[in-house]
Amino acid sequence: MRHAPQTVLVTGGAGFIGSAVCRHLVGTGNYRVINLDKLTYAGNLTSLRDLEGNPNYAFRHADICDTDTVRRILADGKVELIMHLAAESHVDRSIDGPMAFVTSNVVGTASLLSAALDHWRSLGEEARKRFGFHHVSTDEVFGDLAFESGVFTEESPYKPSSPYSASKAASDHFVRAWHETYGLPVVLSNCSNNYGPYHFPEKLIPLVIANALDEQPLPVYGKGANIRDWLFVEDHARALEAVMTRGRIGESYNIGGRSERTNLVVVETICALLDARRPRARGRSHLDLITYVTDRPGHDRRYAIDPTKSEQELGWRPLETFETGLAKTVDWYLENGWWWRPIREQRFDGSRQGLVGAT
Ligand code: NAD
Ligand code: DAU
Repeated sequence: MRHAPQTVLVTGGAGFIGSAVCRHLVGTGNYRVINLDKLTYAGNLTSLRDLEGNPNYAFRHADICDTDTVRRILADGKVELIMHLAAESHVDRSIDGPMAFVTSNVVGTASLLSAALDHWRSLGEEARKRFGFHHVSTDEVFGDLAFESGVFTEESPYKPSSPYSASKAASDHFVRAWHETYGLPVVLSNCSNNYGPYHFPEKLIPLVIANALDEQPLPVYGKGANIRDWLFVEDHARALEAVMTRGRIGESYNIGGRSERTNLVVVETICALLDARRPRARGRSHLDLITYVTDRPGHDRRYAIDPTKSEQELGWRPLETFETGLAKTVDWYLENGWWWRPIREQRFDGSRQGLVGAT
């Protein structure tokens, strides 16, 4: 017998990962998704055009800080699960303007928790047992790792370096506090760097692809030696479904791709993919566009995730390697200028100094 789809409220569903989650959950046929998003500079409904008109998808334009509106959306939509992704997400913007991060990531998460608690308490016994609040967080809460050793496990101490990671760490603490104090059934996940289609072209990978296609400098901070662990966004979306539905209440799950690369290797790999697919004039390589620029203040050297718990408890594994995922991503940007070109032309000039306001 086929069960009725479960209703999931996805916050931040118009963003990079949130839109992948909406597409994935609706695509399974097992969920009805309500996407609640404020549509900041990073929110883009064109990322969801595949879902337009789908009876299992609805959009609600709202701010997670607006508790009354969120409460109403939860009640009217008969929401059974919440997956919380809404946040300010770019480290460089948090350095230039931290308060938007405190507002959306800390106050916003606490406001959403308050609305979720009221909603949960209003449910009947069976619905209350099935309800869950999944908080989507980052490996950046654990802070700076040495180049040579160490990985983040679920037990790693919190040691955030940037206003962004401090705000995400605070939000994780609030989520745990609502569980310990009020009994709200929560689960958390902390993921490494995502990449893939619909990634806003201020982050390293889409910025480098777009700049290379436009014959602009490819900015590498410092010496390009910093290391990140990369995961294809659709693999993250599958992991998030697994955490939301099979994760143990009160637990957190680390998610990562076991794909550590220096930033320079990432940029060089993109250049090689573009040299093969879109050669430059006169036989030059895109590598010639690499430009070393002033380092990010407080730049964490390395992140590395141990995803063993997610693999063993949830049976989750990434389907893409870094090489296959990056090739798919480069191809997507080559074929989908309709999505990223207007963003660059209207609102963002591609440089750290030229960032537009945070919201
Ligand atoms: P994003 O910046 O692309 O999208 C964020 C979305 O949240 C946007 O649609 C924006 O409009 C919305 N939003 C922001 N403030 C809001 C508010 N006050 N109310 C309602 N909506 C609001 O971010 P992303 O890269 O998709 O990240 C999503 C989540 O995943 C974030 O919580 C982030 O911390 C976390 N995360 C991201 C990565 C990554 O590599 N991108 C890795 C691990 C975890
Ligand atoms: O680790 C997960 C985090 O990954 C998420 O929580 C964040 O939301 C997400 O933005 C990402 O943070 P990073 O700071 O690691 O991503 P970003 O793409 O901004 O930078 C990746 C690395 O590349 C980082 O070491 C800084 C460097 N960099 C970045 C940009 C934008 C450059 O060298 N040049 C650049 O122009």
